Order: sequence, then C-alpha cells, then structure tokens
Amino acid sequence: MTTFLIGFMGSGKSTIASLLSADFVDMDTVIVDKIGMPIADFFAQFGERRFREIESQVLQELTTSGRVIATGGGVVVAAENRRILHESTAEVIYLKADFSELYRRISADRQNVRPIFENNSRADLQLIFDKRVAFYEEIASKIITVTGKSPCEIVKEIQT
Ligand code: S3P
Repeated sequence: MTTFLIGFMGSGKSTIASLLSADFVDMDTVIVDKIGMPIADFFAQFGERRFREIESQVLQELTTSGRVIATGGGVVVAAENRRILHESTAEVIYLKADFSELYRRISADRQNVRPIFENNSRADLQLIFDKRVAFYEEIASKIITVTGKSPCEIVKEIQT
C-alpha cells in the first residue's frame, strides 16, 4: 500500500519516511530532478503556480507506487491534490506539530532553502499554517503528534 506523509515544513516528513522504508520517495527530490534546478530558483523564475502544477503531476504518478512518500508541505494547497489524496486507497499520515515548534525548526534548518519560508513574515507564515492545518486534518487517515517525540518513537507509533 502507498503511504503519504503530509504536514507543514519542518514536521519531519522526509526523516520519518526514510526510517519507515529504505525505498521511500521524497517528492521534492523527484521535482528537483524533473525541473533541473533548486526549488527556490524555480519559484523565482517560474512562480509558485507552475511549481504546484508539477507537484500535482508528481503526486498523481506516485499514488499507486506502493511506496512511502514524503510530500512537500504545500501539497494540500491545490484542491485537486486534496481530492487525489482523499480518494486514493493510500494511507495518509499527518505529522502534526504546533506552529512555534515548526518555525523554530525551519529557522534552524539552513540546509534547505524554502521559498515559502524565505518570502513570508512570521505572521504571514502563521496564516498559511492555519489554513493548511484544516486541509491536513481533513484528508489524513491517521494523525500523529510529533512534538516532543524522537523519530524512533514516531515510527513506532505509525507502525502500531
Ligand atoms: C513547500 C514546502 C517544501 C517544498 C517547497 C514548498 C510549501 O517542502 O515543497 O519549498 O509550500 O510548504 P517541505 O515541506 O519538505 O519543506
């Protein structure tokens, strides 16, 4: 069965996916391979809208892959993506954390340049978060609170 991990930036989707399966897929990595440049450069050159179109294509291709997939935090922005995730037989696991914890983690992560983080103030990001949380909760088949838990504990909780 395909398993999608969803959640805001910094919720640990890629880390947890890699622990759940050696054969996991990171959607952002697939997209970067497809577009041939870092996501931040693509946003700057072609805009978020075009990025979302490619993200939808990739999501569609992966739905029946049978693999564990770490999505990008904005995958729920497009109604079409929410429909795909909601109607698929895949397990959709929402890694839930509060905004201040996520903001702290994203700010500390200097390896990943995230345009949505770079281009928005903390207050704007909080609004984006609030809007997305409703979507994550709507389409999740399982919700795991990750705050204060080690990756190992989170994996165990997913597997029980
Ligand atoms: C985005 C999150 C990123 C990446 C892109 C857009 C978003 O993925 O897909 O920068 O809109 O929240 P992560 O959630 O893995 O950081």
